[in-house]
Amino acid sequence: MILIDGKKIAAELREELKQEVVELKTKYNKVPGLTVILIGDMAPSQIYVRNKEKSANEVGLKSEVIRYPDTVEEKTILEKIEELNNDETISGILVQLPLPKHIDKQKVIETIAPSKDVDGFHPMNVGNLSSGYESSVPCTPLGCYLMIKKIEPNLSGKKAVVVGRSNLNGKPMTQLLLKENCTVTITHSRTKDLKAECLEADIIVAAVGIPELVKGDWVKKDAIVIDVGINKTENGLVGDVAFDEVSKVAKALTPVPGGVGPMTIACLLKNTIDCFKRSQK
Ligand code: GUN
Repeated sequence: MILIDGKKIAAELREELKQEVVELKTKYNKVPGLTVILIGDMAPSQIYVRNKEKSANEVGLKSEVIRYPDTVEEKTILEKIEELNNDETISGILVQLPLPKHIDKQKVIETIAPSKDVDGFHPMNVGNLSSGYESSVPCTPLGCYLMIKKIEPNLSGKKAVVVGRSNLNGKPMTQLLLKENCTVTITHSRTKDLKAECLEADIIVAAVGIPELVKGDWVKKDAIVIDVGINKTENGLVGDVAFDEVSKVAKALTPVPGGVGPMTIACLLKNTIDCFKRSQK
């Protein structure tokens, strides 16, 4: 079984991006800039944002985190986003989710200029992705996609099952696999026989947030299995895949942690650089 080392693949990607930033600096005499807006003091968000900032600096991006208390008015956030939209030194804007209840998430997402939307959450980018046009692609599914391609460069005709239909993961993951000519099934909590669906799959991407849902006898021999889940349980951090069981049948599997997580952050840096390049065209 191949243990897909997300940490290592992400480090390789960051190294490539670092080189690219050097080249862009020579060519344009400026570097891509990423601004992250963080509202409140939720611990997981704080950790994510710290990692994002560290990685952005490591590859040579201009990076800034703007912090607000969770009592901040929605208007203040929307005005800040408008200001960043008009700031030529900023290539990418990310508002860390989740947001406090009094702030309308969709309004926030739609205020970010689609050309600076490094999360790929703006409806314009969602539409472009599903139409097969150039767009920002959400970082987590993009990271999953790059890892799958490392294991199997030719995905044409493969059967893929995506478990979970969220806008963040399941739906964009489906679009990426479709673009690669996979036959894709999207499954979710109302799917009648999830095990039977998974057993058909050459590729499984599990992104539902249910601890160790995908069992060993749900997986076809030599399938590629990507585990997007991060679930806190009594037994510590586990994914959506029963790792020990599935590792006995799969061809390749991502661990949790150390699989999808590091790739998500590396893909955010990639998206920032891609937004910069498109803005220079
Ligand atoms: N919170 C958890 N994951 C993400 C993400 O990919 N983007 C944003 N903006 N917030 C998140």
